[in-house]
Amino acid sequence: MSLQSLTKLIRDRAGIEPVSVGLILGSGLGHLAEAVDGVAIPYADLPGFPHAGVSGHNPQLVIGDLEGTRVAIFGGRAHYYESGRGDAMRLPLEVLKALGATTLIATNAAGSMRPDIPPGKLMLLNDHINFSGLNPLIGEQSDARFVPMGDAYDPDLRKALLAAAKAEGIGLTEGVYAWYSGPSFETPAEIRAIRILGADAVGMSTVPEIILGRFLGLRCAAVSAITNMAQGLSDESISHSHTKLMAPVGAAKLERILRRALATGF
Ligand code: HPA
Repeated sequence: MSLQSLTKLIRDRAGIEPVSVGLILGSGLGHLAEAVDGVAIPYADLPGFPHAGVSGHNPQLVIGDLEGTRVAIFGGRAHYYESGRGDAMRLPLEVLKALGATTLIATNAAGSMRPDIPPGKLMLLNDHINFSGLNPLIGEQSDARFVPMGDAYDPDLRKALLAAAKAEGIGLTEGVYAWYSGPSFETPAEIRAIRILGADAVGMSTVPEIILGRFLGLRCAAVSAITNMAQGLSDESISHSHTKLMAPVGAAKLERILRRALATGF
């Protein structure tokens, strides 16, 4: 189905009023979608949208109002490791742009390499390291593929999110996120290497979405809900079920920050 037809299908179901902000929800962070007063469209009704593969995700697009802002919430994302395609989120993000959005906020669950950002805390991404070597724009033909990534994590959005967190009395520390392809977790040696390279947290998503978001001219921000210390930095075992268990701790804080930021205007 063409981008145009897909956009029309969504507008027919959710209304034609332009969307302002797109939100991608990470593992275990899905309940934010329930906060929205709007219309939910299962990905299964949207040709080309990712098939639901990862537990802890809710594969639906919710469009509606959150704190006076029209938002589109992606309850599930496609990860590179599900299909081997780095551009698996390209169509959903193109749809977001076509619906009128100017802003993209990605969220994820991540492992921390910083003792001062322990499980249960949130990290605001101020940069990333593409540790996978992959890129969602490989194969893109236009010169637009040469996307500058200097301020990929929009300084004004970061300021707004930091201010909202402060107003809510929630700790939000800025840091660098490293994208590891997954689906296996990292080895202790990989974590030591990533840490030396300058990363503060590690996860299996977000980076390709931010690259695509910048390619599409969206203002981007991203927040990690820290669910565990990265491999080798704690005795606690790392598992997806642990991620799903811990992510809601961050999700509750994230909802308050996002509500406050949206209410005061991005
Ligand atoms: N590594 C990669 N991805 C993750 C982690 C981790 O430690 N925790 C949650 N998602």
